[in-house]
Amino acid sequence: MANPVMVSSGTFGCGSEYGDLVDVNSLGAIVTKTVTLKPRSGNPPPRIAESASGMLNAIGLENIGIDRFIEEKLPYLRSLRVPVIISIAGDTVEEYVCLAERLNKEKAAALELNISCPNVKSKKGRMFSQDKEGVKEVVSAARRQTKATLIVKLSPNVTDIKEIAMAAEEAGADVISLVNTFGGMLVDIEKKVPKLGNVTGGLSGPAIKPIALRMVYEAASCVDIPVVGQGGIMNWEDALEFIIVGADAVSIGTANFIDPRSTFKILEGIKKYMAAGGLKEISRLVGTLKISRE
Ligand SMILES: Cc1cc2nc3c(=O)[nH]c(=O)nc-3n(C[C@H](O)[C@H](O)[C@H](O)COP(=O)(O)O)c2cc1C
Repeated sequence: MANPVMVSSGTFGCGSEYGDLVDVNSLGAIVTKTVTLKPRSGNPPPRIAESASGMLNAIGLENIGIDRFIEEKLPYLRSLRVPVIISIAGDTVEEYVCLAERLNKEKAAALELNISCPNVKSKKGRMFSQDKEGVKEVVSAARRQTKATLIVKLSPNVTDIKEIAMAAEEAGADVISLVNTFGGMLVDIEKKVPKLGNVTGGLSGPAIKPIALRMVYEAASCVDIPVVGQGGIMNWEDALEFIIVGADAVSIGTANFIDPRSTFKILEGIKKYMAAGGLKEISRLVGTLKISRE
């Protein structure tokens, strides 16, 4: 990656959607909208609701399925000069393996295993990322299947993020990425109905930043693999907080909906901060948090 600012899965389509608005090639990397084996029509509307300092979504992984993805989206993605990370999800371990196999044949360089979408129920009845056995099972199966860089996207909806992060590393993840959205809900008090068709959804945006930051800090402190930090990053100062607590790169989600140029402003801010501090490499900043105030 030429720089540490990436875009989060599900908030940037497959890149081409933003092509008229930004120079996609100047991003650090693109993570594509999660793709599944079969096409999915997603959850019933409404799928998005605004809340204080955040948004709730329950898209339900609507996507065109891997066959059409390979046919319609990969040619554009291949034409890009930035690293492309393909996000995949399945209901079963076998589906993840099958997707990894298909993308191996297409010579995909990096996959992100989305094992943390709060808006779909896997056949297990819960997310793979919610217990360490689930993480180990799906990550090690995908690891056996592919030599591509394997990024594992973790859920914040857990009691102890450290044991989950360590399970992903032990099972062969090259990188962990966190956080996905926090389970939440909103109610329309006039109609007494949930604001989302799916009843519950995932909270993202500035409302989650301090919790996401704490989780990235905890996860980064117990693994040796690189960490991608995300969750409520709206500006360069937010991004730097994630890097200082241990994120090697940051990913921008909800901010893209407010200002499609957020990523570039964030990158500019990071560059200025580094220049002011005489820093040449972002790695010099990663994990530099001082606990002692002396
Ligand atoms: C509308 C929407 C759709 C999303 N779709 C996906 C998805 O398909 N796959 C995934 O791994 N994460 C998905 N996410 C989660 C984001 O990638 C990100 O992890 C999360 O929103 C936290 O970052 P943020 O607060 O900067 O948005 C989605 C988030 C939003 C808001």
